[in-house]
Amino acid sequence: MATEKIQPPEVIFTQIFINNEFVNSVSGKTFPTINPVTGDKICDVQEGDKADVDVAVKAARAAFKLGSPWRSLDASARGSLLYKLSELFLRDAEYMAKLETLDNGKPYKSSFSSVNGAAKVLRYYAGFADKIHGKTIPVDGPFFCYTRHEPVGVCGQIIPWNYPISLLTWKIGPALACGCTCVVKPAEQTPLTALYVAKLIKEAGFPPGVVNIIPGYGPTAGAAISEHMDIDKIAFTGSTEVGRLIQEASGKSNLKRVSLELGGKSPLIVLTDADIDFAVDIGHDGLFANMGQICCAASRIFVHEDIYDDYVKKSVARAKRRTIGDPYDPKTESGPQISQEQFDKIMELIDSGKKDGAKLECGGGRFGDKGYFVQSTVFSDVTDEMRIAKEEIFGPVQQILKFKTIEEAVERANRTTYGLSAGVITKDIDKALSIANKIEAGTVWVNTFTVIPCQGAFGGFKMSGQGRELGEYGLQEYTEIKTVTVKVDGNL
Ligand code: NAI
Ligand code: MG
Repeated sequence: MATEKIQPPEVIFTQIFINNEFVNSVSGKTFPTINPVTGDKICDVQEGDKADVDVAVKAARAAFKLGSPWRSLDASARGSLLYKLSELFLRDAEYMAKLETLDNGKPYKSSFSSVNGAAKVLRYYAGFADKIHGKTIPVDGPFFCYTRHEPVGVCGQIIPWNYPISLLTWKIGPALACGCTCVVKPAEQTPLTALYVAKLIKEAGFPPGVVNIIPGYGPTAGAAISEHMDIDKIAFTGSTEVGRLIQEASGKSNLKRVSLELGGKSPLIVLTDADIDFAVDIGHDGLFANMGQICCAASRIFVHEDIYDDYVKKSVARAKRRTIGDPYDPKTESGPQISQEQFDKIMELIDSGKKDGAKLECGGGRFGDKGYFVQSTVFSDVTDEMRIAKEEIFGPVQQILKFKTIEEAVERANRTTYGLSAGVITKDIDKALSIANKIEAGTVWVNTFTVIPCQGAFGGFKMSGQGRELGEYGLQEYTEIKTVTVKVDGNL
């Protein structure tokens, strides 16, 4: 990768994508997408709303009809289309990464690895398309019984702004492998890369209506999807608050299937035998990566009292060294937060930490004089009841807590309504595995953090969500299981 500064790209697609065509919104409205580095508008995008969602759902339903070009494809041909799409991601990775950085503010090298990771997800699911099958079951009586795993239907997929390209592929990858059709709503803060992917979907050769992409706001376009009577399944990633609304909307409409990937307050437990420098790096990257805007961020670090002071001192030194600035500069580790709203939320929580008596070791304020940059912030002497130890901050704000016994650390780690992920750092494999067994979370990392292989499964216990994405497990969200029982009388 080049070491010189990368230039921002030209924006090409800003319209709604339905039936493989780019169209204007029914209402004629547009909305601005903002560059978080400056707070200035990048461009206006067509604003989808209920009327556009209705048109998109009709297109997705027609594409899903038996006998349609999509439903008539061999399963292996669906896989070939997904594979082609992954190749197009790789072909255009630089452009897509530049666009992701423009709209989201994340450092270019993170965007570039996001695009490559997204291509991998598509390739992984491409391989699965013709390997989704049921069982033959030895039932009682003179019957031949088998199951079919059929596509669930038209899927509404609502994406957040923190990993726009990756999370788009986590959703369309398994849906398309299973033979579903999609109505996707990217986050209003980051619609641009999804619209470029729309162009690639058409280029790859997916039939019209298979994937439709409706940029727009949550309470309008998003709610129209979650309330829709002709959407069979909804997949959502975002806040727990909106997760509740989605589930409620399902209950009040057609009981569409719901999978939710929500927030977290993930613990990282550092035992006394850990190599301190290694543990500091894991804790730092686990929290500060993507400006802290990660659902599984290591936002509660529990450190044994014997090594606590040393851990805090080294974490503060590391945070102070973190480079913040222009995301197109290869030396930059952190760009801005996504929006003024998120900036304000983070500042309010930093204030609460100070008021609740945590020790602000470094940072705590705005970085620079424009855009939504926040200084790398570390709090020590954090206790369990403080808001910064309980609420998702989604920013570059590290909480370091002290513990005496492992039992206590595990009990406190689990004392949360969330259960997305957790980590432990130790050289003692017995302790690591015992802790991994006792932690209430969908993912546990040992001597690492935020490693999310597409072949694994990702999702939350408790209020961190429902269902799993990625891996073979991710396919379960997109299939209906049909049991077929045939009487066989046995007379020849
Ligand atoms: P959000 O949950 O409001 O937005 C996520 C997606 O949901 C966006 O596409 C949005 O347009 C859509 N949405 C919003 N309201 C909706 C509604 N009523 N019906 C249907 N869709 C709706 O998240 P927001 O406001 O951007 O961030 C708030 C907090 O949520 C963050 O501070 C963070 O704590 C958490 N969050 C968690 C994410 C994760 O990866 N789990 C991602 C983004 C935010
Ligand atoms: Mg919101």
